[in-house]
Amino acid sequence: MGKVTAKANANIALVKYWGKQDVGLRLPMNSSAAIGLDKINTVTTVEFDEKYKDDEVEIDGDKFSDEEKERVVKHLDRVREMAGVSLKAKVVTQNNFPKGAGAASSASGFAALSVAAAEAVGLKLDQKEMSILARQGSGSASRSVPGGVCVWHTAEKSEESFAEPIEVPKEWDLRVLLAFVGDLKMKKVSTTEGMALTKETSPYYEVGVREAGNNLKRLRRALERGDWGGFGQVVEDECYRLHILCMTTQPNLLYWTGETVAIFQRMLELREEGVEGFFTVDAGPHVHVVCQTKDMGRIRKEIEGIGGVKRVVECKVGGPAEVIDEHLF
Ligand code: DP6
Repeated sequence: MGKVTAKANANIALVKYWGKQDVGLRLPMNSSAAIGLDKINTVTTVEFDEKYKDDEVEIDGDKFSDEEKERVVKHLDRVREMAGVSLKAKVVTQNNFPKGAGAASSASGFAALSVAAAEAVGLKLDQKEMSILARQGSGSASRSVPGGVCVWHTAEKSEESFAEPIEVPKEWDLRVLLAFVGDLKMKKVSTTEGMALTKETSPYYEVGVREAGNNLKRLRRALERGDWGGFGQVVEDECYRLHILCMTTQPNLLYWTGETVAIFQRMLELREEGVEGFFTVDAGPHVHVVCQTKDMGRIRKEIEGIGGVKRVVECKVGGPAEVIDEHLF
């Protein structure tokens, strides 16, 4: 049983996942959609071998907590159970961006871990089965398996809740600008905990879940019709929907900083000039602007001119999680 290394891209949600109908299986309350980001990724090497007496885990050197290690070990257990083996493993993983800062590291992390671990133990999973496995590590990881622009289906049964690609108009040359703002620190409440609190305490939760369903329909319709403005409107509506649910959670979850809002306002001003980029934010302060190549240079320049913006990363639509040749150990 050899070593296997996999690489997976992060993704930014266009229609957001925020809450589970089954916590253990990570079955989401609503279907969601996302774009893979080619420049933001995780590489993970896994080796199952008798020489390991216990699971050994390393994430970004020694920058990880006991809880993070436990979550990785639990995922290895899922893979071992599927394969019917009991061998312990060594896992080394490297993110090319700050972990836990709202740039979706659990998505790329569990997608890369799923592909590397499943291949290393000899499981032959197709993309749908891999997405289902990754989902159980972290919901958004289901979408990092197919990559591209994809939809993750809500379902009551585990085998029906997976992500698959959806079509985007050929003439759209999609790009995502990721603007990192403020301090890139670990957030205090994990997304897992945050979404559970929202489901329990936000008075707007039910209507929020219903709206997610409507917004996914609107998104699909805009994609079918090649309606760029309609598509962008859904992306921004979904950003507000997620954050209204977060802000009305007890304790309140406020992820935005002044810089986050400054970018929103600049994007709205630019739109008046015909420069079209649509903003969205996951559970952190950083802003993703979905745009097309023709407007990217201008938008980038404008965002970089806002005080407090640390770095802007230009992404193309990222591909599926895949096995690569270079091992980390
Ligand atoms: C705000 O996938 O991190 O990014 O399933 O508990 O691991 P768990 O949650 P996670 O949640 C991501 C939430 C989000 C929105 C989204 O990606 O859809």
